[in-house]
Amino acid sequence: MKLWGGRFTDQADHIMEQFNTSLPVDYRLFREDIAGSRAHVTMLVFCDLLTPEEGDLLMNGLTSILEDIESGALKIEGNYEDIHSFVEMHLTERVGEVGKKLHTGRSRNDQVAVDMRLYAKNQAGEVMDKLQMLIDSLTEKAKANNVIMPGYTHMQRAQVVTFSHHLGAYAQMFKRDKRRVANAIDILDENPLGCGALAGTTHNIDREVTTKLLGFHKPVDNFLDGVSDRDYLLELLSDFSIIMMHLSRLSEELILWSSQEFKFITMADAYSTGSSIMPQKKNPDAAELIRGKTGRVYGSLFALLTTLKGLPLTYNKDMQEDKEQFFDALDTVGDCLLIMSKMIDTLTVNDDNMKAAIKGGFLNATEVADYLVAKGTPFRDAHEIVGRIIIYCEEQKKAIEDLTIAELAQFSDLIVDDIYEYIDYENIITKGNKGLLKQV
Ligand code: ARG
Repeated sequence: MKLWGGRFTDQADHIMEQFNTSLPVDYRLFREDIAGSRAHVTMLVFCDLLTPEEGDLLMNGLTSILEDIESGALKIEGNYEDIHSFVEMHLTERVGEVGKKLHTGRSRNDQVAVDMRLYAKNQAGEVMDKLQMLIDSLTEKAKANNVIMPGYTHMQRAQVVTFSHHLGAYAQMFKRDKRRVANAIDILDENPLGCGALAGTTHNIDREVTTKLLGFHKPVDNFLDGVSDRDYLLELLSDFSIIMMHLSRLSEELILWSSQEFKFITMADAYSTGSSIMPQKKNPDAAELIRGKTGRVYGSLFALLTTLKGLPLTYNKDMQEDKEQFFDALDTVGDCLLIMSKMIDTLTVNDDNMKAAIKGGFLNATEVADYLVAKGTPFRDAHEIVGRIIIYCEEQKKAIEDLTIAELAQFSDLIVDDIYEYIDYENIITKGNKGLLKQV
């Protein structure tokens, strides 16, 4: 069933209809489509383009369609070209001839543009809520586990940090992500309804009315741009890609930390799976899936960038491809944020293993150099001296703090008893100037 039969004499090929339809994908815009139509009807009545009676009939019809879809009484299926055709045709079935007046002064081009903006705006708000949920989980887990662990550069043990500070780094990333999404919402917050197919309409409509009713900040400034702008989807997809990159880095750490080689954390059974052949295995599948799905979200961003790059103004059917990419990325990022938040809530920290890793990694070597510097040794010389101490420790299979003063004094006579307090791991954190404990 189509909205444009008049111009055509031959039937569309069945396979073309299947190829052309977007209903299996854009059905999820039904709320926004009906909200957009209701605002449009109110505006048409306000501008005397419909009588109040006609307006009431259309409003009641649209409300009944929404209620029936929500209750399941009306299923979104059948041979319709898209969600816009589905709603309009059901409306005319329900309210009769007046249903055919709904599309006065409107095109599906500005209709789909307003539907997508409304949907993107709502859903981006939900992504922000899920980001906050994860930030809360990270902050809680960090507060409850203010314990020391090795910090790494080049994947080599480097200096002592705290588990709280490490998780806090991820909280910072997700806070920035939230600001990025808020900024994207701010930029997209313009109403394209009223742009018509591309050039507005000869009817005396009022775009301020629909702008206010739909909760947009302002109407778009340019009609051609209004119907063909999909920048906001690209912007959100790029924000989602950055979120996934952060989630993927965190996943990678959880996978490493839960391995037999590290044993820094234990993941809850609920987010792990077993092996069908190796009975001892507990695999971090949830984290691996998040890491894997990152590629899929990057893919959506690149697919849509590529779809749009050659399109002349204004609307082209290529743009219908925006929905599958955006919806898939949106669902993926939403699921991953939720799962990550639960994984963080339920993991347990093996602080003894973290401490043991610190001891084995000479993680107070920099502080020994700082100690010598404090006593007047130039830093480069101090660095050299500590290098020799490390070689000695490796030969003796001892940590620096396990050497006696006599052993340490072989390398510099400035080293005396107060060294042990200076290079104690907990002291490095609490007395040091890094402020690690404060900055959860
Ligand atoms: N399903 C279409 C889309 O998503 C709706 C707009 C159709 N407009 C048109 N001129 N055929 O892009």
